[in-house]
Amino acid sequence: MFNNRTLDQIKKLKTPFYYYDTGLLHKTLAALKSAADVNGYLVHYAVKANANEKILRIISEYAFGADCVSGNEIEQALQCGFKPKDIVFAGVGKSDDEIVYAIKNGIFSINCESLQELEVIDYFSGLQHKKSRIALRVNPNIDAHTHQNITTGLSINKFGISESDLYSIFDHPNNYENLEFIGLHFHVGSQITNAEVFVNLCNKINQIQSNLYEKNVTLPHLNVGGGLGINYESPVNQIPDFGAYFSLFEKNLLLFENQKLHFEPGRSVVGQSGMLITKVLYVKENLGQKTIICDAGFTELIRPALYHSNHKILNITSGSHSQIYDVAGPICESTDYFARGVLLPETQRGDLIAILSAGAYGEAMASQYNLRSLAAKYFSEDIVKQELVY
Ligand code: LLP
Repeated sequence: MFNNRTLDQIKKLKTPFYYYDTGLLHKTLAALKSAADVNGYLVHYAVKANANEKILRIISEYAFGADCVSGNEIEQALQCGFKPKDIVFAGVGKSDDEIVYAIKNGIFSINCESLQELEVIDYFSGLQHKKSRIALRVNPNIDAHTHQNITTGLSINKFGISESDLYSIFDHPNNYENLEFIGLHFHVGSQITNAEVFVNLCNKINQIQSNLYEKNVTLPHLNVGGGLGINYESPVNQIPDFGAYFSLFEKNLLLFENQKLHFEPGRSVVGQSGMLITKVLYVKENLGQKTIICDAGFTELIRPALYHSNHKILNITSGSHSQIYDVAGPICESTDYFARGVLLPETQRGDLIAILSAGAYGEAMASQYNLRSLAAKYFSEDIVKQELVY
């Protein structure tokens, strides 16, 4: 996967660590930018996917906005070059301090998730003598057909305002003196690979917009969130087809004149540009079952344990005969597996394992459980300027 020179460099580094291919990130961003520009769509990168400073700085160079879900994410986005006018702030449980901070910074919009939150934002906006721009996050009760732990748009999920509450807000819009309603916001889930989900979302939004229109309500902005899935099984076509994704919305979503469409992709932007490199500590055999014990575990990458996700796993230092292995980490928990029953070359203590497609929700979700140290991170240009060949 790596050329010999790079591999020699990588072998010298202390494991585990995240390795980011910034060349691929740039290519992905350029593809996203040109696809979005075709229709004048506005993109706010979902910072939660990877809030690494260097990565945020690269993304902000493309003049994208940021989708933040905490005061600290807003602060990090501002420090890394994102402009307040391009920042949106969602989250079902924004604290008072976070709301005050968002208002103070005059970000583009606060995406509000409950009637009670509206009152709180109204109150703090009044205290600052400001009018805050609000997008109402609607729970459209749409099934994202993804893992249940990353489904957000069903009415059983805690996110967003119900349709009936939405309409009730516009029965008395003057209840909120210090708010300006600028748009609707939706986000139905993550790692969505079924195009029909986005079509269903468009149809639902069309219906909601038409109901609002009957109340003489037309809002200038629509934000359809993120969710575009990536290919974990074979990350060979590593740049997602943003053109096809956007055209689903172009074909199915009815926009009012001059209404702007916003997106919040996270995983599809950074997912394929990162991998976790871990060293094999031990290879165990119990009753014929071979288990590789790595020096990384769910403290570094929790996705397999939390969402049963399948990241492609490669042994980058061995190429001999293939065998079936379970691949586990060192954490004292039975869920600490990266994969079960995968075909790998014969693996020995000291080999290096690469866990691919870990750029999104990898480093960002790391923990220090068992008092473990956080993994280091390296960028391709820090090692050797070269292209990865799979
Ligand atoms: N917008 C909102 C309001 C969100 O909640 C999310 C993700 C996104 C945008 C970005 O979605 P994306 O394009 O990345 O699918 N930790 C999980 C994913 C959780 C996603 C949370 N919200 C995982 O590793 O699969």
